[in-house]
Amino acid sequence: MQTKQSQLIKPEIETKIDGLMAQMTLLEKAGQLTQLGPSIVGGFDFNAFMENPDPEMFKNAQLDFHEDWIGKGEVGAYLGVQGLDEINRLQKIAVEQSRLGIPLLFGLDVIHGYRTIFPIPLAEACSWEPELARKTAEVAAREASAAGLHWTFAPMVDIARDARWGRIAEGAGEDPYLGSAFAAARVRGFQGDDLSDPQHVAACAKHYIGYGGAVAGRDYNTVEMALQTLQDIYLPPFAAAAEAGVLTFMSGFNDLNGVPTSANRYTLTEILRGQLGFNGFVVSDSNSIGELVAHGYAADRKDAGKKALLAGVDMDMVTKSLRFDIPELVEAGVLPLDVVDEAVRRILRVKFLLGLFERPYRSSAENEAANTLSAAHLELAREAARRAIVLLKNEGGILPLSQEKIRKIAVIGPLADSPFDMLGSWAFTGSPRDVVSILSGIKSATQAEVLYAPGCDINGKQPADFAQAIEAAMQAEVVIAVVGESARMSGEAASRLELGLPGHQESLLKALKETGKPLVVVLSNGRPLALPWVAQNADALLETWQLGVQAGPAVADVLFGAYNPSGKLVATVPYVVGQCPIYYNHPNTGRPSGDFWFTSRYIDGPFEPLYPFGFGLSYTTFAYADLEILPGAKKITVSATVTNTGTVMGEEVVQLYIRDVAASRVRPVRELKGFQKILLAPEQGQTVVFELEVASLGFHAEDMQYVVEPGQFKVWVGTNSAEGLEGEFQVR
Ligand code: NOJ
Repeated sequence: MQTKQSQLIKPEIETKIDGLMAQMTLLEKAGQLTQLGPSIVGGFDFNAFMENPDPEMFKNAQLDFHEDWIGKGEVGAYLGVQGLDEINRLQKIAVEQSRLGIPLLFGLDVIHGYRTIFPIPLAEACSWEPELARKTAEVAAREASAAGLHWTFAPMVDIARDARWGRIAEGAGEDPYLGSAFAAARVRGFQGDDLSDPQHVAACAKHYIGYGGAVAGRDYNTVEMALQTLQDIYLPPFAAAAEAGVLTFMSGFNDLNGVPTSANRYTLTEILRGQLGFNGFVVSDSNSIGELVAHGYAADRKDAGKKALLAGVDMDMVTKSLRFDIPELVEAGVLPLDVVDEAVRRILRVKFLLGLFERPYRSSAENEAANTLSAAHLELAREAARRAIVLLKNEGGILPLSQEKIRKIAVIGPLADSPFDMLGSWAFTGSPRDVVSILSGIKSATQAEVLYAPGCDINGKQPADFAQAIEAAMQAEVVIAVVGESARMSGEAASRLELGLPGHQESLLKALKETGKPLVVVLSNGRPLALPWVAQNADALLETWQLGVQAGPAVADVLFGAYNPSGKLVATVPYVVGQCPIYYNHPNTGRPSGDFWFTSRYIDGPFEPLYPFGFGLSYTTFAYADLEILPGAKKITVSATVTNTGTVMGEEVVQLYIRDVAASRVRPVRELKGFQKILLAPEQGQTVVFELEVASLGFHAEDMQYVVEPGQFKVWVGTNSAEGLEGEFQVR
C-alpha cells in the first residue's frame, strides 16, 4: 500500500542522491549531518534575558555563522538565522562556493505563527477544529517561507498530562485521539500538498518521544512508562504526523526508561523506521547529543555522536559532534560508513523533495512584504483566537455583557494591557507592536466608558497598588479582571511548582470581589491553572490562554457576544497542584475514588479536577437525547440527537467516549474516540452519527501486540468527559 511516507521515496531523486554521494568526501558527508545555530560571540546573558525579555539585547550580540565551513560544504543546515537577506547571503555561499553546491536547509521554531502570531497550540486545540489548525499552520508556513525559511520545528505533538510542565502550552493537550487529529492537520498545513511549493515548509514532529511524561512536570526530567503506554498514549500523534507525510522528526532531551531518546535505537529505529515506516530524517534536539554525556549515557562527545547516529539520529543540532567526530569514528572502524551514508541520504532526500536544488532561494523582498501580516492573516488570527476561548463559568448569564445597559466598565489586572504576554512562548518572530491588547479590544468594541488600572504586576515583584483598581471598580457596573501568567511562565524550561495566580493577583481579585460588583475573570495563561477560589467567586470565568496578535478583538467578541464561545478544554484543569499529573483517561484503581474512607483519594482535598477534559460552556444550552447503537462486525454506529435549547445560535463539540469494561490489561475509564463540532440555531436539533471502527478499540497487550479484545464496551456521547448519555455494546 502506498503511504505518504513511501511516496517520499522517488526513484529519480534517489538516483540523484546516488550521484551526489559518489562525489562526497567523508567531511562533506559529516557536514550534511550538521546543523549550526549562529554562535553568539558578543556577550549575551541568557539568564538576564529570561528574567527580562528585552529583544533589544540580541541586537548587541555578535553572531558567528562559521561561514568558512559553508564554503567548504561542511554544514547541512542552520537554525535560528533570521532575515531574508541573511539567509540568502549564507545560501549563496553554499550554492556558489562549495564544491558540490548543496543548498543549506534553514529551520526555525515557527510554532504558532511567524509574524501573524496565532493562539498558542494548546489554546488552538481547544477549538476542537483540526481544520482551523491546518489553516493557521499554512499561513505560518507562507509567512516563514516568505522570510526565506524552509523548515519549522513544529508541530510539537507531545502528550501532556501535567500542568506543571511549561511545555504543555506547545501541544494539543492530553488526549492521543485529539492530539493525532491536530498533529496531522498541522503537518498538512505546514507542508501543503506539493512539498516543493515555495510557500510551504517542511514540518517536524517533536519531541520524539515521551518528553511530556517528565517526572513531576520538571522540564528535561527523566521519563518512565510502560511500553504499552508509549504505544497507546504517546505514540499516536507521532504516528499521525508520519502518516500525514511529515518530513522530519526531532528526538527529545529526555531519557525513556533509562535510554536517552536522542540515542534510543528502539524508538528511533525499530518504532520510527520499522513500525511507522518513516522515510524523512531525524534531527536531535538542541545539543541533546552533547547532553548524552551529562545523562551519563556517553563518555564524551565522540561517544555521544556515535551512539546517537547508530540509534537513528541523522542530523545533529548544534553539538557539532557529527562534524568533528564522524571522520575519525569511521576511519577507526567504530562507526560503519553505511550508517553515515544512510543519514546523509535521508537529509539530501528532504532537500530534493523541497525543491531546494532547483530553487535554493525561497523568497524575495517583494514576496515577503506581500505575504506578511496581511489582512487575511489577521482575520484568521482573530477567528482562531475567538475559537480558542473556553467559557468556564457564567453565573446568571452575566455574559455576554449588554451593550445597551452597561455604561461603565472597569478593566483591571496586569494582563489587560500587556501585548507582549499575549504572544505566549515561542513567538520571538512576532512583535508586541502587532498585538491588540485585551484593553484595546474592549475599548474598540464598546461605547461604554472604560476605566483601566493594572492593580499589580504579574509576578509580584512590584508592591501591589490596589487603590486605583478598587476606585475604578466602585465606579463601574461590571469589573473585567484580566489575570494569569506572563508569556515566559510557560514554554521550555518554565515548569512551575504552584498552579495558582502568580504574585498578588488573587489578592487583587479578592479585593475586587469585596466591592460587590459583578466580577468577570479573564484568564490569560499557558497552562491549566488550579484556581478554586476564582472558580467559586467569579461571576464569569473565561479561559483565553495566550491568543496572539488578535487577542483583544477576540476576547471582546466573546465578552460582548459577537461570538458565542465554543471552546472545550483539551487538558484537565486540576483543583490543586497536588493532583498532578491528572488526566481523564486514567486507568481505574481497585478502589475508585468515592466517599468511603478506604478509596483512592486525598484526605485534604478533592480528587476530582476543577474542570474536566472536554468541558466548556456556551451562551446557549444543548440537550442530548436518543442514544442509539448499531453494532456491526467491523463498525459500530453510534448516534444521538443534540438540540439547542437556549435562545442564541451556538456551536457544540459533541464527544464520544468508550470504555473497554474487562480486558487483559486495565483500560482507561474513558477514551475519546470521536468528536464533531456542530452549529445549531435555537430549538434546532441534529442527529450526530459516529462510525466507530472496531479495529480502533484496541490496545497493546502484555506481549506488545495490538489487540481488540471481545467483550462488553461502554459508550458515552456527551458534552464533556465527565457527562453524557451512556450505552453499551459487545465486540464479538
Ligand atoms: C529546544 C527545544 O526543545 C525545541 O523544541 C526547539 O525546536 C529547539 N530548541 C530549537 O530551537
